[in-house]
Amino acid sequence: MTQAKSKKASASAASREVGKSARIAVIGAGKMGGILLQAFLKRGLFTREQACATVQHPEKAAALSKSLGIPVYTDNVKAVRQADIVLLCVKPQVVRTALAQMRRALSPAKLIVSIAASVPTSYIEESVPARVPVVRAMPNTPCLVGKGMTAVSGGLHANADHLETARKLFEVVGRSVIVDGKHMDAITGLSASGPAYIYIILESLAEAGVKVGLPRDMATLLSAQTALGAASMVLETGDHPALLKEAVTTPAGCTIDGILELEDGKLRVTLIKAVVKAAQRAKELLIQS
Ligand SMILES: NC(=O)c1ccc[n+]([C@@H]2O[C@H](COP(=O)([O-])OP(=O)(O)OC[C@H]3O[C@@H](n4cnc5c(N)ncnc54)[C@H](OP(=O)(O)O)[C@@H]3O)[C@@H](O)[C@H]2O)c1
Repeated sequence: MTQAKSKKASASAASREVGKSARIAVIGAGKMGGILLQAFLKRGLFTREQACATVQHPEKAAALSKSLGIPVYTDNVKAVRQADIVLLCVKPQVVRTALAQMRRALSPAKLIVSIAASVPTSYIEESVPARVPVVRAMPNTPCLVGKGMTAVSGGLHANADHLETARKLFEVVGRSVIVDGKHMDAITGLSASGPAYIYIILESLAEAGVKVGLPRDMATLLSAQTALGAASMVLETGDHPALLKEAVTTPAGCTIDGILELEDGKLRVTLIKAVVKAAQRAKELLIQS
């Protein structure tokens, strides 16, 4: 078989039209794996018959199986045997162990999509049988409400179909982009960790509302809807945030006084440093395992 033909054959099962006949196994259905699994089921990307999962502890497996209505095992081989797409959601330090456990059930007809931070596709490729396609993805927790941001990048044996299959998975839980693998740690520091930074900003704005006399619930609503509106303006107009900021900042008005306080408190440089540190840490997670 020519290389092109073999790539096509290997793509067929995994990319067997997500939402129609492809089956998924979520390996490590913890916080992020659980969020994705719930969202896929809720949005009808996979039926309950097309999905299964694994966790480490039997009691967790039983509870999750009951709440999701799908088989949840502690046996990775059993789960992988039933799947076309293997969504690997264990902690980076557990990736090698999980791959060793499932290795004998893997083949080039199955697609591995890993969301483990810090773990390059090459690391996974070394631990699985030859030519198994691997896609690395970096989602974030807003996937739970369909507002996630996920970047995907392909490994050595992942072709355009595999990438598209992976992108489609995350497209039902928000937006997704295909990127070069070299950007994945930066993306981890920006959009995967990012919700935590935004929650701190929202918490602070809500506290500020309380300080200026607003009820806490109302202050939280005002802050969150303002953040949602501002983000939507950036996404929908395509205008640069600086330009949109100018439109709010009337000469000698109130906003410029607020902005001066933000500059004095070094909000801008603090956010930049937060992303840089998180991206650096993303490079270290695997090394320290
Ligand atoms: N949290 C985020 O915002 C986020 C965002 C993007 C990417 N990620 C990535 O997602 C991955 C999971 O993070 P998390 O926060 O969801 O962690 P988590 O809640 O600790 O989930 C990990 C899950 O893996 C299970 N597990 C452990 N060993 C296993 C094995 N050998 N086989 C099968 N399952 C096993 C655990 O089972 P038990 O429940 O039984 O212990 C647990 O359910 C990490 O690699 C992280 O980098 C997370």
